[in-house]
Amino acid sequence: MKTTITRLSAATLLLGLSQAAFADEVLIKAGHLVDVASGKVAMSQWIKVNDGVIISVSSQKPEVSQDTKTIDLSDKFVMPGLMDMHTHVVRGLSKNFYDGYFQSPHRAVIGGVVNAEKTLMAGITTIRNVGASDFQDVALRNAINAGEVPGPRMAVSGPALGISGGHCDANSLNHSFKEKAGGIADGPWAVRQKIRENVKYQVDLIKFCATGGVFSKGTKVGQRQYTLEEMKAIVDEAHTHNRTVAAHAHGTEGIQYAIKAGVDSIEHASFLDKQTIKLAKKYGTVLSMDIYNTEYTLAEGAKNGVPQENIDKEKQVGTKQRQSFKMAVKAGVKMVMGTDAGIYPHGDNAKQLSRMVKFGMTPLQAIQAATINSAQLLNWQDKVGQLKPKYYADIIAVDSSPLENVAVLENVSFVMKGGVVYKN
Ligand code: ARG
Repeated sequence: MKTTITRLSAATLLLGLSQAAFADEVLIKAGHLVDVASGKVAMSQWIKVNDGVIISVSSQKPEVSQDTKTIDLSDKFVMPGLMDMHTHVVRGLSKNFYDGYFQSPHRAVIGGVVNAEKTLMAGITTIRNVGASDFQDVALRNAINAGEVPGPRMAVSGPALGISGGHCDANSLNHSFKEKAGGIADGPWAVRQKIRENVKYQVDLIKFCATGGVFSKGTKVGQRQYTLEEMKAIVDEAHTHNRTVAAHAHGTEGIQYAIKAGVDSIEHASFLDKQTIKLAKKYGTVLSMDIYNTEYTLAEGAKNGVPQENIDKEKQVGTKQRQSFKMAVKAGVKMVMGTDAGIYPHGDNAKQLSRMVKFGMTPLQAIQAATINSAQLLNWQDKVGQLKPKYYADIIAVDSSPLENVAVLENVSFVMKGGVVYKN
């Protein structure tokens, strides 16, 4: 059923029919409508959609034209599509760790097409893709936006900036001394140049590596990499071009430097302490903490060929990161859902929600992290993350209340993006 619909809408476009051919007026009858801002559930609501955008939400059935289709979700809990602020959809399809090293960038884009569809089908209607070589992510975003392939809305970073030999470089070591990743730049002017290049090729945001990481060879997870001067240059240049900045940072010093430099989000944020949490609150820095990864890597990593070095690093990070998450939630730091999907299978993104609850959030807080908070981080808060007039009709449905058990979001039964039904 679901594939038929997807293929149909893709085919509609390929046949050159206009947007309106499938994005006409649609009426949704929602049995329970979850307001993610207030946590209230309204019964029996009508959502009127036209041309991909929500026109009205009301308890009274609105006026619609005669041939308007009604989608009956009267036994469902309906809410805005989920948003994942840390993904790597452009990637090979093999589970084997080493295969990635021998895969062409072109093959990885094909992986991206498959992974994007899986992500959308799981109810993730918006993602932020943080790091892809050769602007593969820009191409995928554009193809999705053009309706050529199914996938979530994407905010993309292009190549992640990083120091020579750092986490964003050593990820792609291939034993050639001349080789370096596309985003490598050392020094304040070099990082500015790299950002200008990324902007030229139409990225939506800037990602950089502030510290070492788990899945890179020879880097220390807690070790700061860029200097404060370089980080300040990155943020200044990115913000000048109206691009937000996401900093990969596990270690405390790297996190603090990145916050002081003015980044918009810290990715991973594993080693937090009271002082760093205070700093994040003071600067309004958003945390994007991928706390589901640990479980997957420790259970499946060895089978998938992840080297012992990286498994050992995961062990250093996991427990601490979850404690940090708990502390940050308690302190009221702003959080989004960032999963690092790609480390575990695409489409499993929502598995992180129950872990966010396990480590201190209420289900509503976890849902807000994956909707309105993420929308704010992207600066798309007027378009996505809520179901209100003028917002995109990015709508999902589940069988029971996600406010009681957030894990139901792992089994989304209905997905609409921009007024197009992808799964029902
Ligand atoms: N991309 C991150 C890195 O390589 C993943 C960290 C995964 N582990 C975790 N506990 N969050 O550093």
